Amino acid sequence: MSYQEQLWWRHAVIYQIYPRSFKDSNGDGIGDLQGIVQQLDYLEWLGVQAVWLSPIYQSPMADFGYDISDYTEIHPIFGQMQDLEVLLEELHKRDMKLILDLVPNHTSDQHPWFIESKSSKESPKRSWYIWADTKPNGAPPNNWLSVFGGSAWEWDENTGQYYYHAFLKEQPDLNWRNEEVQEAMLDVMQFWLEKGVDGFRVDVMWHLIKDKQLRDNPINPDFHESEATYNRLLPVYSTDQQEVHELVAKMRDLMEQYEERVLIGEIYLPIKKLVAYYGINESGAHLPFNFQLLTLPWEAQQIAVAIDEYEGAIPANGWPNWVLSNHDKPRIASRVGGQQAKVAAFLLLTLRGTPTIYYGDEIGMYDVPIPIQEVQDPQGLNMPGKNLSRDPARTPMQWSNAEFAGFSTAKPWLRVDKRFKRENVAIQKNNPYSMLSLYRKLIKLRNEEPTLQYGNYVPVFSNEQLIIYKRELVNHPSFVIALNLTPRPAYFTQQGESRLKGQVVVATSPEMEGHFLEEEIDLGGDEALIIRLE
Ligand code: NOJ
Repeated sequence: MSYQEQLWWRHAVIYQIYPRSFKDSNGDGIGDLQGIVQQLDYLEWLGVQAVWLSPIYQSPMADFGYDISDYTEIHPIFGQMQDLEVLLEELHKRDMKLILDLVPNHTSDQHPWFIESKSSKESPKRSWYIWADTKPNGAPPNNWLSVFGGSAWEWDENTGQYYYHAFLKEQPDLNWRNEEVQEAMLDVMQFWLEKGVDGFRVDVMWHLIKDKQLRDNPINPDFHESEATYNRLLPVYSTDQQEVHELVAKMRDLMEQYEERVLIGEIYLPIKKLVAYYGINESGAHLPFNFQLLTLPWEAQQIAVAIDEYEGAIPANGWPNWVLSNHDKPRIASRVGGQQAKVAAFLLLTLRGTPTIYYGDEIGMYDVPIPIQEVQDPQGLNMPGKNLSRDPARTPMQWSNAEFAGFSTAKPWLRVDKRFKRENVAIQKNNPYSMLSLYRKLIKLRNEEPTLQYGNYVPVFSNEQLIIYKRELVNHPSFVIALNLTPRPAYFTQQGESRLKGQVVVATSPEMEGHFLEEEIDLGGDEALIIRLE
């Protein structure tokens, strides 16, 4: 495929919106669809080309929308179907795409399917969920644990069986061995595809199907008490089963009936297992989310190795992707610090592959400490004392120095960062040294340079401080990206004949821009550069 023929999701920068926290248009303290519409000019200005929305469907909100009670209705908190249609239309007008969250692994316990399934052992929908008998000794069917703490089995007194829930007991897992379930979920996908949405981010794709025999998971020998209790076991029988790939292939088949739609999979697995989700002969996800920059320690050599391993593991027609933050993990600035978050932005936006930006990272938002009595995230509430609440990474977007950071006219559902008066979109827009200005510059350069969108990735050098790589595309200028992942100065002295020479086009210190480099690349602490080669 020549670069001119590339599909939009290969070159687009994706922007993840957590709708509760982006922009409130109706003064109830919770973000909504109209609020997102109001900020589309901002997103266009920023230069992103696709928006992924965390769930906006009907839901009792036990897990803030990841517990769905109607897959084809909008939750009134967020608006109505018409608002979604307006959002889609407004995005398309701007040549931008809309990706919805699809949560096929589990429903809400309030979903009519589950209410029916639970009503009796003879219910025609009984086998839509995973029901199992108690063991002879009265114990649950096996030792599987819930990601959110405790057993993954919930006893149902009425019918005398347990049901399985990988997450909350309010999120019963569907039984994907049942073909009716498969059809029902493909129908949901079709409903949205017909409406014109451009793709899905599939929630916990690697959880979809479980061991048929429900065998016990083995003990994890490396478990530490400080971790989530889920990590006590290795989920070898409850996740990543071989049959999952057939299910993903069915989803992909459906997507292929429409033009240029994208299937993204949320998958936390090591590289080798992750890349299997591309499927054989492109039958899997277009983009199995690559969370390495989200999960690895911020250490130059480890990251350099991981990039190379990932590049080497992707199948021939597979396309890479990169993520720095999302609504489930601490934000990049809180993991690596504000200065390194800038270096991280260079990685995200100059590596080969589709980048996903989490809302607020472009203004360097930090995790916000949430007082214990205000914690809302079930993961935090169920495992107190382990600092596992996801609320800190979900706080309202900081738009301006107006009350509540311009997010809402009412007290927001989650508190706003106290620093909002000095760290917000309005202020950073006018500051050439801000995180926002840097993001915008990086995105602009990426959007203008086919090399950065499609060029090859060529590792140049790495040590305990530096990562240096090149991007190359035939008949286009090449770029060198030099990153210092530490606060100390770092030096790269070129040796031999073929020296890298060129002009700095974007730098963490804008003073460097325009400089010509040929002999040495000297980087200050936390410094990063993009050099256009001669
Ligand atoms: C992954 C989602 O990203 C997370 O927010 C959610 O709690 C779980 N899946 C369960 O749906």
